[in-house]
Amino acid sequence: MKIGVLGTGSVGTTLATKLASLGHAVKMGARDAKNEKAAAWAGSAGAQASHGTFADAAAFGEIVFNCTSGAGSLDALAAAGAENLRGKVLVDVANPLDFSHGMPPSLFTGSNDSLGERIQKAFPEARIVKALNTVNANVMVDPGRVPGVSDVFVCGNDAGAKAEVTRILKEWFGWPVVVDLGDITAARGTEAYLLLWLRLWGTFQTPHLNIHVVH
Ligand SMILES: NC(=O)c1ccc[n+]([C@@H]2O[C@H](COP(=O)([O-])OP(=O)(O)OC[C@H]3O[C@@H](n4cnc5c(N)ncnc54)[C@H](OP(=O)(O)O)[C@@H]3O)[C@@H](O)[C@H]2O)c1
Repeated sequence: MKIGVLGTGSVGTTLATKLASLGHAVKMGARDAKNEKAAAWAGSAGAQASHGTFADAAAFGEIVFNCTSGAGSLDALAAAGAENLRGKVLVDVANPLDFSHGMPPSLFTGSNDSLGERIQKAFPEARIVKALNTVNANVMVDPGRVPGVSDVFVCGNDAGAKAEVTRILKEWFGWPVVVDLGDITAARGTEAYLLLWLRLWGTFQTPHLNIHVVH
């Protein structure tokens, strides 16, 4: 597939590297077409790897991953362009963390809203699926880094988009359990989980951790 990855941080780089290693054509997007991190990634990730602006990457992708800073995501997606996202699955991996008052961060959306919902509202013709935001970047593409079986979540308003992302999570990234939480308002929960996730990181002194729901 042709895949657009918006973001040059550890999430964008890790997802883009994994996707390229599976043989997909991946374009990494940034604010600046000459972004040094994106250029370095494209130079090291094989012949099918390329980079450009957020708009270039969104236009290129049959599916697009939002791996931008939560506070910058709406601006990044506006730069990507609604016309380049129309009808496409947009996997939203971002978290609305507010570090302006120091650590630990809070959520700039409050508890009755979420970044996933804001993105779906701002881009009604894109098919948003919130996923992977509850685990560290390395774990996203290698769930076996955490011993035993653990879970990843999807939510979104488009059943077909969720089915597509669930297939990718299982078949490409190796997730044994993908839990469908319902519509995009479930992003309120998966984003707020970050407040607990950060404390678990502190307690266990590793970001390579996850949860498994028993019922
Ligand atoms: N790190 C993890 O393991 C992890 C795990 C789960 C979820 N997440 C979430 O995944 C997202 C990416 O995390 P990250 O650590 O890889 O990188 P990050 O430092 O949070 O974000 C980097 C990306 O955000 C873009 N960006 C920053 N401010 C922007 C603005 N004002 N307007 C437009 N774009 C802007 C940057 O653009 P340029 O390239 O142009 O500089 C860059 O591509 C975050 O939302 C984070 O909360 C992270």
